Amino acid sequence: MNSTVLVTGATGKTGRRLVPQLAARGVTVRTASRNPAPADAHVEPVHFDWSDESTYAAALKEVDAVYVVTANLSGITTHQSQQVASLLDAAAVAGARRVVLLSAFGVDQAPAEDPLRRIERVVEEAGMPSTILRPGTFMQNFSEKHWSNLDATIRERDEIAMPGGDALVSYVSTHDIAAVAAVALTEDGHDGKAYSLTGREALTLAEVAHHISVAAGRQVRYVESGPQTIRDALLATGMPTDQAEYVTQLFVAAMTTGAFGVVTDDIAAVTGRPATTFAEYAAGAADAWRRPTTNHVSAT
Ligand SMILES: NC(=O)c1ccc[n+]([C@@H]2O[C@H](COP(=O)([O-])OP(=O)(O)OC[C@H]3O[C@@H](n4cnc5c(N)ncnc54)[C@H](OP(=O)(O)O)[C@@H]3O)[C@@H](O)[C@H]2O)c1
Repeated sequence: MNSTVLVTGATGKTGRRLVPQLAARGVTVRTASRNPAPADAHVEPVHFDWSDESTYAAALKEVDAVYVVTANLSGITTHQSQQVASLLDAAAVAGARRVVLLSAFGVDQAPAEDPLRRIERVVEEAGMPSTILRPGTFMQNFSEKHWSNLDATIRERDEIAMPGGDALVSYVSTHDIAAVAAVALTEDGHDGKAYSLTGREALTLAEVAHHISVAAGRQVRYVESGPQTIRDALLATGMPTDQAEYVTQLFVAAMTTGAFGVVTDDIAAVTGRPATTFAEYAAGAADAWRRPTTNHVSAT
């Protein structure tokens, strides 16, 4: 069966890995972005902006399933759950029969009024078969564009500066999240399910620094910092102060309490393959930590 899947966040850390995995399954992929790329085999780029509902209908035309990525942490407001509700209403009208939501680890435990839990409830109550993915902290935050700027501080200062101490976190690869999403979007048996997606091992930030050092070929160290590092990075993205405070609290709790150190086998159970280890991820991401080379012109 030739089906069409709308991928929101198609240029992001999970979305851009999901697109080729869906295309390899013979699916036509509608890739949503505020800056759509040129079309390719099996790929139909479309202009899409969560904050402009007039962009929803064209993105949803004749889609069978939708992958929902809420914009990013700066989108965590009540508006985002309203936007997801509008998108799913329009998706039902367009004939979509399945939705997969990218949420976050532990959101099922959050109070009903929590902005992320509100988004989950919108999806659960939309009346469309749904699957919720709850990943832990992404490995790719260390190597790809993220508000925390970790890739830049590793490249420029050989430092990972953040709160964490000795707390364990089971970082997950976005390639594995995309693999689970590809299955849930195209195969039966995942409706009504929620998966907690983690890596195979829980690591301290000192252990993370060790793996990155091995891959980068030079010493990178973990430097414990206070919540202000996170707050400042968020404020620098233009996030309002109250929202930056909320996200800082979430982030610090995730990194310092050990609550994100749980290891599950949901990735292997859904995909049939073991989750990526941090060392495997780091070996593949080493280019992100290379320093730009300076060309010296000889005076002679
Ligand atoms: N990072 C983590 O460790 C982590 C862990 C658990 C869950 N999550 C969840 O994963 C999601 C992605 O987070 P991320 O920070 O890693 O970002 P990301 O997926 O790497 O990038 C964000 C994506 O959102 C799109 N986007 C941003 N604003 C948009 C708008 N107004 N309209 C339409 N699309 C918009 C961007 O597309 P364009 O710029 O091309 O429009 C981009 O593709 C978030 O919901 C986050 O809560 C993240």
